[in-house]
Amino acid sequence: MTDETRRRSPLANPPAVSVGEGIVSALAVQSLYKIFGNRTDEAVRRLATGAPRAEALAGLPATAAVIDANFEVRPGEIFVVMGLSGSGKSTLIRMLNGLLRPTKGSVRVDGVELTTLKPAALRKLRREKISMVFQHFALMPHRTVLENAGYALEVAGLPKAERRERALDALRMVGLQEWADKLPHDLSGGMRQRVGLARALAAGTDILLMDEAFSALDPLIRREVQDQLLELQAELGKTIIFITHDLNEAMRLGDRIAVMRDGRIVQIGTAEEILTDPANDYVAQFVADVDRTRILTAASVMEKPQHVLDVNAGPRVAAKALRESQTSVVYVTGPGKKFVGTVTEDEVLRALREGRANLDGYVSTERVRTVTADTAVADLFADCAESQHPVAVLDDRGRLTGVIPRITLLSALASVAPDEPAASDEPAAEPTAVAPSSEPADIELVVGKEMPA
Ligand SMILES: Nc1ncnc2c1ncn2[C@@H]1O[C@H](COP(=O)(O)OP(=O)(O)OP(=O)(O)O)[C@@H](O)[C@H]1O
Ligand SMILES: [Mg+2]
Repeated sequence: MTDETRRRSPLANPPAVSVGEGIVSALAVQSLYKIFGNRTDEAVRRLATGAPRAEALAGLPATAAVIDANFEVRPGEIFVVMGLSGSGKSTLIRMLNGLLRPTKGSVRVDGVELTTLKPAALRKLRREKISMVFQHFALMPHRTVLENAGYALEVAGLPKAERRERALDALRMVGLQEWADKLPHDLSGGMRQRVGLARALAAGTDILLMDEAFSALDPLIRREVQDQLLELQAELGKTIIFITHDLNEAMRLGDRIAVMRDGRIVQIGTAEEILTDPANDYVAQFVADVDRTRILTAASVMEKPQHVLDVNAGPRVAAKALRESQTSVVYVTGPGKKFVGTVTEDEVLRALREGRANLDGYVSTERVRTVTADTAVADLFADCAESQHPVAVLDDRGRLTGVIPRITLLSALASVAPDEPAASDEPAAEPTAVAPSSEPADIELVVGKEMPA
């Protein structure tokens, strides 16, 4: 998954409500509550103390669907809201486009406060800025696929020719242009859902809200439409708030994921952050069965490379590095810190004997495989097996950012197997290019991390 956030910050857990300097959020929610029933103000007051929902509302004729939600969604991000049935997902998303009025709190879309808008202004904002894709497609059975795709434009009062053109464009995007004149019942479930998506795309809004949009589809079709959404998203860069109760779907699609429980958001983070650092036991149990090797990346299991030498370093410096690190290989970088290869003891000795001033000409690219930092752990095995020394992890500019000794990968695996007890807390202590260091490593290891029982 190409995920900016994850690449930028594979391990750190950013604060839930920070969008980062200079970036304007597409959508921002602050202290948002939705209480159904009566005495809602009293309910908010009690819930604001942080008390569990059932306890706080005991004796009140009120249901708390969303409690103190805070988050911002970046432009171009797929922000997934995940939670079990009844956790408040639909209520939350319906407040984001003003279909439901919050009991308390703020919703800003492109900086505009939604909660104070009059109905006409709200309808305008929904037309121009936010579209919604529903679970059951909400297609009109007696209208053609094309008319369904252009429905939002019809409501907006656009002339027929323009409607037709934009709807056809949107159908093309989802691969259904050939079906424009058919009726919905001629289409399979997956195709109908794509018409629903086309309708939202035809509206041309920057923000898409998708409430369990793919949940009614069977698993294979569902994967297909997920792929299609990711492809479209790479092209269009919409801001998408995607609701699901399916963890694997959340992990596949989400740049970031908000986990809801009993009306509260209990964690916001990338898939990797949620897996490696669940906020509480509930989240840990929720993610216990996920195939981590598909989510975790090289960046999350790599170790900090130490004793990296510049190609201009002399053989004496290299010999010293080898001695200190107690290894038989050193990693060598060239201009711009780009990884160029490794040198072994033998080559360093040869350079010394031959009286060379630097390592140029002695560096080999053969012994060590390289991978990029966002390579899934599942895809590391072949490289680790075939690499004579720890695999080199490179960033997108080819710079050496870490190394993965085989033993580290194995330990990481042990700690990700759902049925196994947690791996030992011992750091990987095999002789590798990474010298045992007394300094705290600034790359946190997943190795040995406690797994939920
Ligand atoms: N109009 C309403 N009146 C009263 N209670 C409501 C209303 N809408 C939702 N609720 C309650 O609010 C809570 C959250 O419901 P919501 O539909 O937002 O959950 P959800 O996470 O979308 O669930 P699902 O996965 O089943 O769609 C539930 O307890 C629900 O019964
Ligand atoms: Mg729902």
